[in-house]
Amino acid sequence: MTDKSVEKLSPQEAAAELERLARDIAHHDKLYYSKDAPELTDAEYDALRKRNLAIEARFPDLVREDSPSTSVGAAPAEKFGKVQHVVAMLSLDNAFDADDAHAFVAKVQRFLNLNTPPIITAEPKIDGLSASLRYENGRFVQGATRGDGRQGEDVTANLMTIADIPKLIKGAPGVLEVRGEVYMEKAAFAKMNADLEAQGKQTYVNPRNSAAGALRQLDPKITASRPLRFFAHGWGELSEPLAETQYEAVQRLAKMGFPLAGIKRANNGDELLAIYQGILEGRAGLAYEIDGVVYKVDSLALQQRLGFVSRSPRWAIAHKFAAEQQTTILEGIDIQVGRTGALTPVGRLKPVFVGGVTVTNVTLHNADYIRGVGADGEPIRGGKDLRVGDTVVVQRAGDVIPQIVDVLLEKRAKGAHKYQFPERCPVCDAHVARELEPGEEGVIARCTGGLNCPAQAVERLIHFVARRAMDIDGLGAKQIQEFYELGWVKEPADIFRLHDKRDELSTREGYGEKSVTNLLASIDARREPQFGRFLYALGVRDIGETTAGVLARRFESWDVFEDAVNAAVKAQPGEAYEALERVSGVGAGALAALLAAAPELNARSAGASPAAASQADMFAGEGAGVRARPRSKA
Ligand code: IVH
Repeated sequence: MTDKSVEKLSPQEAAAELERLARDIAHHDKLYYSKDAPELTDAEYDALRKRNLAIEARFPDLVREDSPSTSVGAAPAEKFGKVQHVVAMLSLDNAFDADDAHAFVAKVQRFLNLNTPPIITAEPKIDGLSASLRYENGRFVQGATRGDGRQGEDVTANLMTIADIPKLIKGAPGVLEVRGEVYMEKAAFAKMNADLEAQGKQTYVNPRNSAAGALRQLDPKITASRPLRFFAHGWGELSEPLAETQYEAVQRLAKMGFPLAGIKRANNGDELLAIYQGILEGRAGLAYEIDGVVYKVDSLALQQRLGFVSRSPRWAIAHKFAAEQQTTILEGIDIQVGRTGALTPVGRLKPVFVGGVTVTNVTLHNADYIRGVGADGEPIRGGKDLRVGDTVVVQRAGDVIPQIVDVLLEKRAKGAHKYQFPERCPVCDAHVARELEPGEEGVIARCTGGLNCPAQAVERLIHFVARRAMDIDGLGAKQIQEFYELGWVKEPADIFRLHDKRDELSTREGYGEKSVTNLLASIDARREPQFGRFLYALGVRDIGETTAGVLARRFESWDVFEDAVNAAVKAQPGEAYEALERVSGVGAGALAALLAAAPELNARSAGASPAAASQADMFAGEGAGVRARPRSKA
């Protein structure tokens, strides 16, 4: 992004930048939605969209037909009512090391023109999602997510189900908004995931995403069944002050019944760092995840004087824990074949505990990555390649996926061979083709076996039943694999014929009358799926959730859509083809993939009759917890 302020852009520059932003955002949407391989952080992605909006606001005439602001990728979740935060819910600036922490203390002292540092509190930074709880005359009346800080989602009914949140409090000001974090304990998360897996449902990546998913359920009964908890760490609107200091104010909240994660006071930077060290050392033993320590100026009068800069207060900062690193052995490199045939090398590690989890697998992305070359063609790990048997440094920070950040060459075995990327699919032995996708970096290796390749066939089926696709309860990766091996389910339509296997299935280990009845019922419940979900479920390359949603809303019925695609296949160029081409939000790659997949789009042969497009076809917000980084953020 250029740093030139929007005010200073000429119309020519604005048009050029809007074009670039449309392309870039579409590229990142694709990585995120269709490939599950985002390259940007949420903040970086949001900055692109914000810049796009700002330019469009100043140059309304230049808004493009393919503008990202009209695409559904970032549509806000419409399913909850909106809540305006009278007092904005801000974020925190970050400190990454002791120097940053000292600099924070010094800056505050300088700003306030004090001779000694002010008292500063320190408390764990809970890795959850923030919520604001409104009490009127002591009664819990409304609860909201943070949203964009000014406007959040009304999740009152869901927050009502959390036992840690008092519903009626004594001695509270007439208006009291308590702010804090909703989170899930590590053990509860692990148990919940194990249960989900056993039921064939999709699991969550970490406690925070799982808490977010649970809180943003439309049905509070589902929220109630998830073990959510709450810690208070501040407040919003108040009809009268709680106390004169941060420390005393949260103690008052504790007296009213709100759980606190523990808060201490320090007289200077060294004392703060000692508290930080103590919290860091206690981290592994905590029942919940924390990702740093929050420092806050204790005196509320001083907080007032310090005020805010853009979106964070000057009186507080989050001292983040450094990403943890450990060394271990790269014991093997396996190749996984995905649903589109893409070959992904996976490093098998000697299990190592790092960043709060035991890591055994790590994605190695592609052949270049193993060679020590990054997506931009620049060396990574100092250009060192990875060999089986190598001693490697593994890093994991927060919910970032674990990665190999270094190789200890001095420990490399004498005879260690360079890794040879396979020329043939390790599953079906078909030839492996190399593709360089336009506008993308890196060479994708793809098995050419198509659905003859058992790996591709199984992955396609797993995708079909997944929560964000057809969402068939009781059918997950494990069951699909089993039914595929039995020869019962080779293609989606076979799922709808599983009723024929009822008796055989009931006698199989792990199944009883009841579970079979439930499974068949959840299959029946999907015979008329939503258009967008069904299209996404078919797993056509480059047709991710966003594009599927766009097409669902553009075409009234599946039949009309199928006809349009078939007509376009027959006549290119031609009117039907151009009509599809004009659907904003469907790129050239997606269109080509759609036409190539035309024969697979026959819904009846897939055993389902999709319902007309509806609001529900908007994927935004659905199952937010499945993704590491929900785009429609809470
Ligand atoms: S204080 C004015 N204290 O971290 C900002 N935030 O990165 C008040 N968080 O949005 C935030 N633990 O959701 C505060 N002990 C803690 C926290 C905490 C977690 C979250 C909070 C905030 C985010 C900022």
